[in-house]
Amino acid sequence: AETGCLSIIVLGASGDLAKKKTFPALFHLYCQGFLPPNEVHIFGYARTKISDDELRNRIRGYLLGERSSSPSEDVSEFLKLVKYVSGSYDSAEGFQLLDKEIAMHEISKSSQEVSCRRLFYLALPPSVYPSVCRMIRKYCMNKYIRYFPADLGGWTRVVVEKPFGKDLDSAELLSSQIGELFDEPQIYRIDHYLGKELVQNLLVLRFANRFFLPLWNRDNIDNVQIVFREDFGTEGRGGYFDEYGIIRDIIQNHLLQVFCLVAMEKPVSLKPEHIRDEKVKVLQSVLPIKDEEVVLGQYEGYRDDPTVPDQSNTPTFATVILRIHNERWEGVPFILKAGKALNSRKAEIRVQFKDVPGDIFKCEKQGRNEFVIRLQPSEAMYMKLTVKQPGLEMSTVQSELDLSYKQRYQGVMIPEAYERLILDTIRCDQQHFVRRDELKAAWEIFTPLLHRIDNGEMKPTPYQQGSRGPTEADELSAKAGYVQTHGYIWALPPYR
Ligand code: BG6
Repeated sequence: AETGCLSIIVLGASGDLAKKKTFPALFHLYCQGFLPPNEVHIFGYARTKISDDELRNRIRGYLLGERSSSPSEDVSEFLKLVKYVSGSYDSAEGFQLLDKEIAMHEISKSSQEVSCRRLFYLALPPSVYPSVCRMIRKYCMNKYIRYFPADLGGWTRVVVEKPFGKDLDSAELLSSQIGELFDEPQIYRIDHYLGKELVQNLLVLRFANRFFLPLWNRDNIDNVQIVFREDFGTEGRGGYFDEYGIIRDIIQNHLLQVFCLVAMEKPVSLKPEHIRDEKVKVLQSVLPIKDEEVVLGQYEGYRDDPTVPDQSNTPTFATVILRIHNERWEGVPFILKAGKALNSRKAEIRVQFKDVPGDIFKCEKQGRNEFVIRLQPSEAMYMKLTVKQPGLEMSTVQSELDLSYKQRYQGVMIPEAYERLILDTIRCDQQHFVRRDELKAAWEIFTPLLHRIDNGEMKPTPYQQGSRGPTEADELSAKAGYVQTHGYIWALPPYR
């Protein structure tokens, strides 16, 4: 493993993402020993003129999050590693000062001839990515403290968050602007869904289990749903959200990444490039989206947000059917659905199998076999299947084989997505990050539809807050072949 000083620089340190996600993730990595205090220093950078202590006070309250296992001494020890530098995002002075501060700590921490590692986390709006990257490239690249061969492992990496552009052209422009300054192995495009436990499990499930290998295709699978629901609206983020909408916020990135892992072919090996090659291939096999296979919705009251225009056409809900033109999936609809202000909060993948041919139990009414992967909350996988109703009668009933993580892995702490992904950036593992050609292929799928929505050619249907979304969405899923099971509800098993 690489050692030597590591500087983590969080740009946009006073913003929401940094406070709620980046710093807590760094704190948890610190508590688990991944950020040793004798090597690591953390810098916050933003425009606001505040002191080190003011930044520390701003983030302190967010560090523990839902976990209370870390003692408060850890919090103070961690905060000692955090320094603050203020400056603008496009001026030389700020970045020269930042470079000086980083270098000072590097010199003080480097007793031997080791190289230094610099990780820049851009918790910033993408509009400033190009200028910030230019400044980093010009003033803040890692330097060698003393002479030693270049292969001793120093590096500079940048981590960026979506939205990577608004459509194909703007995304490509952004990619080429950043691409002129950094090479692809230095760029980590985060999609935090790739850091979720059950998303990371998808390749293992599919390719390490004989159960699934022969079944995972058009001969057996009728339809696949990938669903994201939130039971709250845009709450305070209306300004951001209205410019993007649910397709750019959730479907084009989070759900599409999950889609890739469900639908792609087996990679040659587990090397990040092999995996990403397969993801690109399946994205490139997606057929153009048909208007009649899209339902858009906007919850009532969305426009009451003062930061949202009164006439906004932005969807807060969408169902979009993707179809893959290849040997494995021809004819199988992938129903991607996402919505805000719905009746529940969950994200899941639901693989529905075809009916049993020549059924002697007449069990169609009880529903089909389904394999469900519940990403959140309460991670679980379960298979819905038909069994004999226990008892004297010979009748059938829907039941399940259930792997609920809370019950099966008691006492195991499932890491936060950001925690895992930041660790990957330090370890130089790009498997769970989006490659440039993958991003391009993702935008190619959605850009024509997004342009039609932006031009007002397609309008969202209003739906009530706290509902299932527009009824047209359920009708579309049914038309695509999804059969809802009646009279069966999977319940989270109690702890033993
Ligand atoms: C973000 C979106 O990327 O993901 C938010 O911008 C959304 O709108 C969030 O709420 C959902 O993430 P999670 O991990 O809570 O499912």
